[in-house]
Amino acid sequence: MNLKPETLTRIDEVITHYPEKRSGTLPLLHLIQEDVGYISDEAIEWIAAKLELQPINVYEVVTFYPMFRRKPIGRRHIRVCRTLSCALMGGYKTCSKFEQEFNTHRGEVSPDGEVTIEFVECLASCGTAPVVMVDDELHENVDEAKAKEIADQIKAEAAKRG
Ligand code: FES
Repeated sequence: MNLKPETLTRIDEVITHYPEKRSGTLPLLHLIQEDVGYISDEAIEWIAAKLELQPINVYEVVTFYPMFRRKPIGRRHIRVCRTLSCALMGGYKTCSKFEQEFNTHRGEVSPDGEVTIEFVECLASCGTAPVVMVDDELHENVDEAKAKEIADQIKAEAAKRG
């Protein structure tokens, strides 16, 4: 497993919080997904070894919770809120605009590898719906026009990177 040193440090620290090592399964999955973007078979085996479990014990947790991804994502992660306020204010149209701009569908990596677009539940900014997160950055009042602006910016940054 190729994890960042800070992730490894946090993992070792988190395990100490639990009297039973297996209780660390969920936090470890979150930390690894945060670091590498998804949960691979290798990650499942690695966590199992770390917590002295069988891989099936970790696999069951991964498949139970929908927030864990089993496939790599694009370089940028676009998350569109689909909960009530955002849905009423046009979140579905916002999401479709991103899909159109990047020629992809929700949950897939765009053909250029640049983005993965997903729906998420409430991002706790309902007063400025529709709301979108691009990586760790919150964007508010994202109608279709603003989605296009954000998409253009992501494309410009990708072009600069080459
Ligand atoms: S409903 Fe979208 S931020 Fe709360």
